[in-house]
Amino acid sequence: MKLLGTGSSLPHLQVSNSDLAKFLDTGDEWIVPRTGIRTRHVISDENLEDLAADAAKKALEDAGLNVSDIDLLICSNVVNEYVTPSLSCVLAYKLGLACPCFDINCACPGFIYAMDMADSYFRSGKAGNVLIVCAEEPTRMVDWKDRSTCVLFGDGAGAAVFGKGDNLKGIRLSSEPAPDKICEYRKLLPTPYISKEENEVPMLMKGKDVFRFAVTTSVRDIHGILDEAGISIEDVDYFMIHQANLRIIDGIRERLGVTEEKFPVNIADHGNSSSASCPILLDECRRKGMFKEGDILVFSAFGAGLLSASAVLMC
Ligand code: UT7
Repeated sequence: MKLLGTGSSLPHLQVSNSDLAKFLDTGDEWIVPRTGIRTRHVISDENLEDLAADAAKKALEDAGLNVSDIDLLICSNVVNEYVTPSLSCVLAYKLGLACPCFDINCACPGFIYAMDMADSYFRSGKAGNVLIVCAEEPTRMVDWKDRSTCVLFGDGAGAAVFGKGDNLKGIRLSSEPAPDKICEYRKLLPTPYISKEENEVPMLMKGKDVFRFAVTTSVRDIHGILDEAGISIEDVDYFMIHQANLRIIDGIRERLGVTEEKFPVNIADHGNSSSASCPILLDECRRKGMFKEGDILVFSAFGAGLLSASAVLMC
C-alpha cells in the first residue's frame, strides 16, 4: 500500500490548562511537566461525523481522488452519538460513498490496526483505494470532575487515503489484555429480564500501568519491525508516536537513542485524541512539507485493551 493523501479536522473550541483551573484544582504547573499538554480542542456545538467528513474530504482532495474511487471505508472510533449504524455508514452517507464500510474500536492504536486491515484488502486484490478515518471524542468519555483523566484528552478527526503499492515495510499488532487498565462502562436500556446490577461509569485509568505498557511495547515492537524489515534505526526519518503524553514519547525516544528532531509532536495543543492522534500528526507534518518521497516513517500507538501497534511506511 502507498499513502496518497491526508486530512484532519478539529473542533473550534480550545480549552487551556488555565480554563480547566477555573473549575478544577489543577493547572499548568501539574499538567505541563507530567504530560506536555497546554491546550486541547474540545467538541462543543459540532458533531463528530461532521469533523470526520471534513477530514475525509481534505484527504480525498489531497490524494486527487473522488468518492467513486474509494473501494473501502474503515472508521476507527471508540464513542460517538450513534449506537447503530456505525460511524462509517453515517460518514459514507455524508460523503456520498457507496462502498463497503465498517468501524473498528481498537482505541488509540486504531489507525495502525486500520492500516493492517487495508493492507490485507490490497494483498487479496479486494480494494484499489482505501479511505481510513479516525474520529474520536474522548472528552465525552471522562468525568469532568476527575482531574486525573479529563485534563489529558482532546477531540478531532484524521483521515488518510491509501492506494496499491509496496510502501508498507512492516506492521505489528500486539495485545496484553487487561480491560481494567483503561475502561468506561455504559448502561444499556432495561428489559423485563435484566436482574443484574448495571452501572454507568466514566473513564477509569491506571495511568502508571498504561505508561509502562506504552513505553515497553512501543520500543520492543519498533525494534522488532525494523529488524524484520532490515531497516536500521538511523535510516528512519520520523517516528510518528501516538500523542498521549510527552513523557511517554520522550521515554520511547530516549530508549531508542534517537534525537528530538525525528520525533514530531503536537501534544501541547491537542492533548490525547485517541486513534485520531496519529493521522492528525501525519496530516500536519505533510502539510508543513516535512516529508519527501522515500522518507521512512515509523508509527507506534498504544492504549485501552491494552493494545499496541507499530508500522513502517515509506513516503
Ligand atoms: O492513550 C493512552 C492513554 N493513557 C495515557 O497516556 C496515560 C499514561 N499515564 C500518564 O500519562 C500518567 O500516569 C498521568 C499523567 C496520567 C499521571 O501522572 P502520574 O505521575 O502517574 O501521577 P499520579 O497519578 O501518581 O498522581 C500524582 C498526584 C495525585 O495526588 P496525591 O494522591 O499524590 O496527593 C493526584 O491526585 O497528582 C494528583 N493529580 C493532579 N494534580 C493536579 C492527578 N491529576 C492531577 C491534575 N492536577 N490534573
